Amino acid sequence: MTPTQLASSTEDLLKRQKEYLFPAVSKLQLFGDEPLAVARAKNQHLWDVDGNKYLDFFGGILTVSVGHCNDEVTAATIEQLQNVQHTSTLYINEITIKTAEKIAALTPGRLQKCFFTNSGSEADETAIMAARMYTGNTDIIALRHAYSGRTLSAMSLTAHAPWRLGGVFDGTIKHVRNPYYYRSPVAISEDEFLDLCVKDLEEMIATCTSGKIAAFMAEPIQGVGGFIVAPQDYFKRILPIVREAGGLLIIDEVQTGWGRTGKHMCSIEHWGVDPDIMTFAKGIANGYPVGCTITTAEVAEAVTGLTLSTYGGNPVAMATTLATIEYIEKNNLPQNAELQGARLCQRMNDMKSRYDFIGDVRGMGLMQAFEMVVPDGNKTPDPDKAAAFVNASRKHGLLVGKGGLYGNVIRVAPHLNVSKEDIDAGCDLMEQALATMG
Ligand SMILES: Cc1ncc(COP(=O)(O)O)c(C=O)c1O
Repeated sequence: MTPTQLASSTEDLLKRQKEYLFPAVSKLQLFGDEPLAVARAKNQHLWDVDGNKYLDFFGGILTVSVGHCNDEVTAATIEQLQNVQHTSTLYINEITIKTAEKIAALTPGRLQKCFFTNSGSEADETAIMAARMYTGNTDIIALRHAYSGRTLSAMSLTAHAPWRLGGVFDGTIKHVRNPYYYRSPVAISEDEFLDLCVKDLEEMIATCTSGKIAAFMAEPIQGVGGFIVAPQDYFKRILPIVREAGGLLIIDEVQTGWGRTGKHMCSIEHWGVDPDIMTFAKGIANGYPVGCTITTAEVAEAVTGLTLSTYGGNPVAMATTLATIEYIEKNNLPQNAELQGARLCQRMNDMKSRYDFIGDVRGMGLMQAFEMVVPDGNKTPDPDKAAAFVNASRKHGLLVGKGGLYGNVIRVAPHLNVSKEDIDAGCDLMEQALATMG
């Protein structure tokens, strides 16, 4: 068989993958117990090479935002591909400008200028670089349980031991306690826990930085961390402290952006603060590799000197991004995410009331999680239950994701144009999976 011929079975593909790709790739793919070799995908469904059909409630890690191979987005991609494919940022491309104009129009506050790259990691790198150049400070504060990607700085910003490979560069990055109330180390009220988190930030700045910081960076809902939702007052409480230390607020919307959390295009709008820098990737282009960093005119002006991303702002990537955003806007998908997310959340809470190993249900919009625990009264994380749920769901024809530092969180994130019928079908499949787990 030549390498370009399609294999007939998962077994054959797995064997060849193991021979020619880094072992780390296969390790991740085996998220459940069985590998899944994809043959094709359309809208809400995905088929494997063995002919099994799945309802996809994970969308390639919250990336397929408007359905697999969405007709309108694909048409825009193809049209641009047949017009101009690549020029690099050496030349002016109208599609890149139109995309930046659209993003600026839909993001909050005074965010105006975009820098395009190819991934969330690069978008976060760009944000850190811009904050340091603008403020003249170097220290960055991030949250424990954050995930920022796989470049060395992004791994340094990441606060999960298993995702920090090869020796991170973290001398100037400090991690404060994240507002993960479900796992508060002490039995206190939600308000007291919030006070504790805010105090931790003040103490970190006072004790482990020069007193001046370049930025505080956070995901409003930690994605890889296990859909940990920041309390309503969190960003309003920390913002004056960040400002006092001379820092900017960087909000990573790689998972949460573009309608995912319901009602608004950007999830930070739920918290009522205006970030100085925001980063996007994943759902912004429905699976096309795009990273975007947007900031104010003043911060962008501070990025002087030479910087280039060969593929950043690539015309085909931009046409795909613009078509995705326009599709989300035209079809009121933030509203759909709010509506269908509420239905999903209600069904998941109902499941929680009947299964004592579901310790928590949390999320916003179409970003909902189960936290699996040993029902011992101590919330002991149960990663085996989470793995069993992913496997059982898969057997019943539903794809969901896993996450969290302890590997015990189930992440459920259907595409934003999901119908009420598909939410019900997905929840019925979850019920069937749970029933087989006892
Ligand atoms: C919140 C967040 N930021 C950044 C990244 C990194 O994005 P990428 O994998 O495109 O580099 C991810 C990826 O999962 C993410 O979830």
